[in-house]
Parts: sequence; C-alpha cells; structure tokens
Amino acid sequence: MQNPDRFFITGGVPLQGTVIIDGAKNSALSIMAACLLTNEKSILKNVPQLKDVYSMIEVIKTLGVKVVWKDSNTLSIDPDDFNNYEAPYELVKTMRASFLVMGPLLARLKKAKISLPGGCAIGARPVDFHLKGFRALGAEIITEKGYIQAEVKKLIGNDIYFDFPSLGATENIMMAAALAEGITMIENAAKDPEVVELGTFLNKMGAKISGLGTDIITIKGVKELNGVNYLIIPDRIEAGTFMVAAAITGGTVEIKHINPYYLKSCIVKLEEAGIKVDIEDDDSAIISNSGNIKSVDIKTMPFPGFPTDLQAQFMALMTIANGTSIITENVFENRFAHAGDLRRMGADIKVEGRNCIIKGVKKLSAAPVMASDLRGGAALVLAGLAAEGTTEISRIYHIDRGYVKIEDKLKNLGAKIKRE
Ligand code: EPZ
Repeated sequence: MQNPDRFFITGGVPLQGTVIIDGAKNSALSIMAACLLTNEKSILKNVPQLKDVYSMIEVIKTLGVKVVWKDSNTLSIDPDDFNNYEAPYELVKTMRASFLVMGPLLARLKKAKISLPGGCAIGARPVDFHLKGFRALGAEIITEKGYIQAEVKKLIGNDIYFDFPSLGATENIMMAAALAEGITMIENAAKDPEVVELGTFLNKMGAKISGLGTDIITIKGVKELNGVNYLIIPDRIEAGTFMVAAAITGGTVEIKHINPYYLKSCIVKLEEAGIKVDIEDDDSAIISNSGNIKSVDIKTMPFPGFPTDLQAQFMALMTIANGTSIITENVFENRFAHAGDLRRMGADIKVEGRNCIIKGVKKLSAAPVMASDLRGGAALVLAGLAAEGTTEISRIYHIDRGYVKIEDKLKNLGAKIKRE
C-alpha cells in the first residue's frame, strides 16, 4: 500500500476549540544551516517535525555534521566533523532551502559544490542574488552540469545591494559575512521575522550584526563563532492558516503561541473581512466569525506587507465572501495554481497575470482536487472545510512539508477529515 496520500474532508462544521502552533519551519531551516558556522554543538528547541526539516537534516548530515533529536522537538547539531563541501542533487532537489548551506560552506570550508536548486510550482526561483552577494564577498563561482562550484581564499566584507529584498539571499549572505574579514552592508535586505531570528541567533553565537528588521543590515565579521542553545519562534504561516480555518468555517478558535506583530497584516485583513480577532496576553488570538465574510483586496509584498505564503489561504476565504476581491501576487511569478482547483469546487475566479479576481459565491461544493504546492494545498484543505460534501485532496505530501499533523489539529477542532 503506497503512503496514504489523500485527505477526505467533509465540510460544513464550524471549528471550535484551541490549536497550539508549532515551531517556524523557515526559521528552523536557516538556523540549522547557521549551526555549521562553528565547530561547537548547538541545541535548537521547538523544532517542528516536518518533512522539510528532515530534508535539511539529511543535507547537513551529508556534510559530516552529527544531528540527533534529543526529544520530539529538540535538535542537537554537532558540526565538529563538518568537512564535506558538496550538497548533492538528490538532496537539494527535494528542498531548495538546502541552498542555505552555501554561506556556511564558504565561511568554514572556503569551498562549496551545490546542485543548482530547480524551480518549483510557484516560480523559477533563481539564486542570482545569492551568487551576486557571494561574488561581492570574494568568491569565484562557476555553474556547470547543474552544479554551482564556489571557492574563496578569504571572505572579505563588502557592500551588497539586492534588487529585491530576498529572504533567502539575505540569510545566506548574512551567514557568510558573519565570518568574513571586515564589514558587510546589505542594502534592500529582507525584514522578515525569520531574518531577524537568524541574525539574533548569529549574534548569540558571537556575530556582530545590526539593523535586523530594517532594510540595511550591517555585519562586522569576527574570527569565530560559538555553539548556542536557541528556541525557534512559532510558525506565523501555520498560525495564519488556522486563523483562516476559523474564519472560513464560521467557528471560534483559540490559536496559541503566536507573535501578533508578525501577523499584523493577516490580522488587519481578517478584520477588514469582518472577522473578529481578539489578541490574548500577546501570545494567543481568538478568531471568531458568526456573520458573513466581506470581500477584501490583498497585495502580497515583502515583510511587513501581506505574506505571499498566506495568499492562497486568503483566496480560499474570498471564494465565499460577499462581493468581489482582487488578489495581487507581487512576490512570485506563478503562485495561482490553487485557483484552478478552487474553481473545480465552484469558486468564481479569474486569473489575469499577477491578479486574481474572485467573485464570492454562496457555497463551495466538494470535488476531487490536487495539491500542487505547500500553501496551495493548505488552501484546498480550507476550502474543503467550508464546502458542501466530501472533498478529496490528492498529493498531500506537499502539505506535510509545512504543517505538523494538520489533520490531527483540525480533528481536535471538530473537523471531519481523514488521511487515506
Ligand atoms: C522564502 O523563500 C521562504 N522559504 C518561502 O516560503 C517564502 O514564500 C519566500 O521566502 C518569500 O517570503 C524559506 O524561507 C525556506 P525570496 P525564498 O528569495 O528565500 C526572487 C514556504 O511556503 N529571487 O524572498 O526563496 C524569487 O524568485 C516557502 O514556506 C530572485 O529573483 O524567497 C521570488 O520571486 C515558499 N533571485 C522573490 O525573489 C534570487 O537570488 C522572493 O524570493 C532570490 C530570489
């Protein structure tokens, strides 16, 4: 029997109860890479049990790093034998965030051979900003046979300007610059919470980084860094997804372990849509929707703008809103794959380039649909929770990349969902 790879969701149940949010996938991934910047052991707490985390563990183990789960959410990472500079295609193709080991490889081993990450369903996802930054720090880089080969005698600090505030490129360059000689200034840097967390982790290791959360980050290189213990923040995108789940089913859900500041744009948009959001002691929110949903326009932007990783989930909500909403995707060039599947469920959606025009309908109806990427798959789950009948979602391995036991969490809130 092949892995159970489908969800069956019978919609129409208003969700009720409390959900605890897990550690942030994208923060854990970059901080796991940063552990390679020292030969001392680091301990990471609140690491989510996710496929993408398992993939990153495989990558850094291949590089010679010892990785052990101390308990179900605590990782011990010991890079004492970190000596292999090659990240192979088989591993990088399963998760493009593996590319985040390039900064630590150049900083510690002065050499890197990494498979060029392919594109994915949401876009070509080039790494030209990363390479521009590494070249600015003195690396010689060639690309051949699908691999990026880089070497550097000594990383030297430099000024680097990014055409777009790329989250991954900011993280990769920050890690390399931490051990470079001299000062690096990243201009038009990403301001995302995951970048702030990575910089905070690096500073705890002994790095000298300032400007985190602004568009100019300055890194004063140091000779060496130390191992640290660190607590991974809660996942803002998982939290936002469950906020929409409460809204789209007309339920009342308490979402625990959130950072409201990191969810500001999501909360503002939910309130504009007529959803009640009560923040409780700065760590949780109660989301309730007893009335109807108003249509709102969304423009995805780099942080602190509306996150592209919540665009699909909000599109699901807008399919049953009163009125017409326009969703503009400004971060990735091809992130509307879920529109087709939502249409199969009765949504009225027109895609025009970077815009989606969504005319609210009374009700969605169940249909067999297929996840094509992580957040698009999450949107289909949300639509299934609201639809009349039983929706079958295939290729749910996409969803498992970014959500810990999503069906258990939803069942605890009263949803009728099963994995088969
Ligand atoms: C990170 O991807 C996240 N992944 C993504 O989350 C998230 O959607 C994205 O940031 C935007 O917030 C991780 O953190 C592991 P970018 P990343 O570099 O770093 C273009 C999820 O669902 N670009 O900020 O790859 C790029 O094509 C995932 O968890 C270049 O052109 O995003 C895109 O259009 C999906 N050249 C835009 O910039 C480059 O060298 C933003 O990309 C790099 C990026």
